[in-house]
Formats: sequence, structure tokens, C-alpha cells
Amino acid sequence: MKQLIVLGNWKANKTLTEAEDWIHFYKNNYPTELKLKVILCPTFIHLGLFSTTNLSLALGVQDISQFPKGAYTGEVSVDMVKSLVDYVLIGHSERRKYNNETDQIISEKVRQVLREKLVPVVCVSNVVQLQKLMELVPEFNKFGMLLYEPVSAIGSGKPKSPEDANIMAHKLHEVAPDVQILYGGSVKSENVASYIKQSDLSGVGVGGASLEAEAFVRLIYAADRG
Ligand code: PGA
Repeated sequence: MKQLIVLGNWKANKTLTEAEDWIHFYKNNYPTELKLKVILCPTFIHLGLFSTTNLSLALGVQDISQFPKGAYTGEVSVDMVKSLVDYVLIGHSERRKYNNETDQIISEKVRQVLREKLVPVVCVSNVVQLQKLMELVPEFNKFGMLLYEPVSAIGSGKPKSPEDANIMAHKLHEVAPDVQILYGGSVKSENVASYIKQSDLSGVGVGGASLEAEAFVRLIYAADRG
């Protein structure tokens, strides 16, 4: 049976106090006996809050340096986070757009992450992006995870239909047969179950609906009930 996953991405949101409030609510309301796995990607500055609180979730970061540790001012290297997180989100369409991340840069980041034995979760919005990655880092198929996010569905309230998302995931599996694929883009507690059910999907990525702890917990319950 496939391991179902809900991955939350806070993006550039939350003061430390807001993050503490989120953790407090989650701790007190978290559904305990879950079949699915929850991964949360807060920002770098929030990671310390999670290391002192025992929550049943895995942690990831939203980005990572393409360089190893060293003289790279402003960067956060894999080495710095490897004791704190298991997953690293790479190549989100917002980073491709606002930070000019190319396939080359993304492949460098994947290499850094694989070298330290963390799981790279690469975001793609089409098959060509995955083909480029597989040409540059073929071992991604064995050790990576994909987050398929059609750009028009992100934060728009207009998700791709679960059936169309599954067709796309099937095409992505033709290029990288072993990776788990999540769908992201306007997933809410009301529609999550229909994505979880799809044969080529192993779960969902959630932006907006992960920001309020109450909404996120509701979504987790809905996904777990399937
Ligand atoms: P959204 O974002 O859930 O707010 O649409 C998805 C994402 O970018 O991960």
C-alpha cells in the first residue's frame, strides 16, 4: 500500500509569534492515529521552534543553496539543516519565476541534497522540467519525490481536476517511474480526498490551507479518512 503524504508549505509567512500559535494549536488538536504522513515546510527561521516541540510531523525546508557550506553569504547549505529536516523542497514555480532558478541550478540543488541523504522534493509544472532533471541527475528517480503543481492552480482557487492531475502524474511516471508524486494547487479540506484516491498520486502539497493550523488539521483528517 502506498504511503500517503500531505506536505504543507508556509512560503514567506508567519512571524515567530504566529508560528508559535500554530504549533500550540497543532499540538493540542493533532489527529494521532494517522495512516498518512505529514511533512511541514516552515521557513528557515522557524525550524528551531520545531526542534524543541515534539510534534508528529516530518520537517522540510522550502529551498536550499546550490552550493556546499562555505563562503556564500546569505545562503543556507544542506549541511546546516541536515540535522533538523528530512525533506528539501526545490524548484517551486515561485522560485523559478521570482528567483530565476534554471534547470541547471535546480539540478545542482538536488545533487547537494542527495549527497547528504535528504529527500529532494522537486516541483514541476510540466514533463519537460522533469526530463531535464532526469538528464542531469538520473538518480533522482530512486531517491526523490515530485510535487506536480500547474502554475495556474497555485493560490488561485482553481485546482486542476483530480482526473487531469492523475493523467499528468501518469506522464511524469513514464519519465521517473519510481518517484512518489504529490499534486499541489488550491487543495483544501473539501477536495483533498479526491486527489488522494488517484492511482498515480501519493498525496498533496498545500500552501494556503497550511497557514491556519485549524484548516490544516481539518485537511489532514479529510485526507486520512480518504
Ligand atoms: P496553494 O499553493 O495550496 O496555496 O494553491 C500550493 C503550493 O504552491 O504549494
